[in-house]
Amino acid sequence: MARQLITPQKIRDHVKRLGEQHPPIRMDSVDFTVKEPRTLSERFGSVLDYLARVELEVDRNVLELLVLLPDVDETNRMFYADVWHPQEIQHGLILDRLQGDLGQPPAEPINDIALRVKLLAPLAHFRPIQEITRFLYFLTGASTERQAVLAYNTLSKGLDEMGEKAISQTLIGQIKQQEPGHFAFYQMSATSMVQHEVLKPWQLWLARVLREKTFGLVGTNKNDRHRKEYGSVIVGLGLEDRLESYAREIGRLETRLLWAKEKGMEFPPYMLKALRECLALYREEFAKGNLSPTAALG
Ligand SMILES: [Fe+2]
Ligand SMILES: [Fe+2]
Repeated sequence: MARQLITPQKIRDHVKRLGEQHPPIRMDSVDFTVKEPRTLSERFGSVLDYLARVELEVDRNVLELLVLLPDVDETNRMFYADVWHPQEIQHGLILDRLQGDLGQPPAEPINDIALRVKLLAPLAHFRPIQEITRFLYFLTGASTERQAVLAYNTLSKGLDEMGEKAISQTLIGQIKQQEPGHFAFYQMSATSMVQHEVLKPWQLWLARVLREKTFGLVGTNKNDRHRKEYGSVIVGLGLEDRLESYAREIGRLETRLLWAKEKGMEFPPYMLKALRECLALYREEFAKGNLSPTAALG
C-alpha cells in the first residue's frame, strides 16, 4: 500500500478543521423556496424522506457507538460529539422541514438501540474485540458516508434539471459540502489501523466474517420495510441499472482494506447482494400495485 502514512495527528487535525470550517448549517441560511412542490414530491419524495430519517437516526448511532466503543479516544470523541452529530442532526431537521413544506409526513427515525447491539456490550471492553469493532465502525462509516455523498450529488443534479435552484444550492448544496469530510475521517481512521497493523491476522479474519454476515446498507436497520425504502431510493436516484458500479463506489475502501488478498475483487459481493435485495423488495411491492414509482413510502 504505497500511500502516505496516516498518523493520529493527521486525523486529529482533520477533525479540528472540519469543526472550524463546517459549523452546523443554520436553518435560516436555507432558502426553502420550491417552484413545483407536487412534481418534486412525486420525483424525489421517497428519497427526501429516506435521507431525512437516516440523518435523524444519528442520535441512535451515537448511543450505539457509546455501547460498542466505550473507550474511544479524544479524536474519536471530538469527531462524533463536536462535529459529526451536530452536523448530521441539522441535515435531518432541514430535510424534514422540506418534507413538511411539501406536505409529506415527517420522517420516523428509529432511535432505540438494537437488541443485537445491547447484547454485544459486555464484550466491548475486551481490547481485541474493541479493536475489531472500531475497525468495522470505521468501514461502516466510510461506506455510509459514501452513500450519502453519492445520493446528495445525484439529488442536486436532479433538482437542477427540475429548475429547483433554491433548494439545490442552499439546502442540498450545503449538506453536500459536509459529507465528504465525514467520509475522509472514516477512510483515514480505517486506513491508519491497517497501516499500523493494529489488527492481528485472526482479528482481520473475524472482521471479514462479521462484515459478510452483518453488512447492511445505510438506514436499512435489518428490516424489510427499510430495505424496500432503500430500493425506492435506488430507483428514485436512477441507479437501478448501474448497481455494480454503485457497489464499486461504496465498497472501494473496504475492498482495499479488508479483501486485499482476494485478487480481482472489484467490490465485496455482499454489497451488491444487499443492493439487489432492496431493489427486489421494492419491485415486488411495486408489482402488487402498492406503490407509485418513487412516491414516499410509509
Ligand atoms: Fe448528513
Ligand atoms: Fe455524514
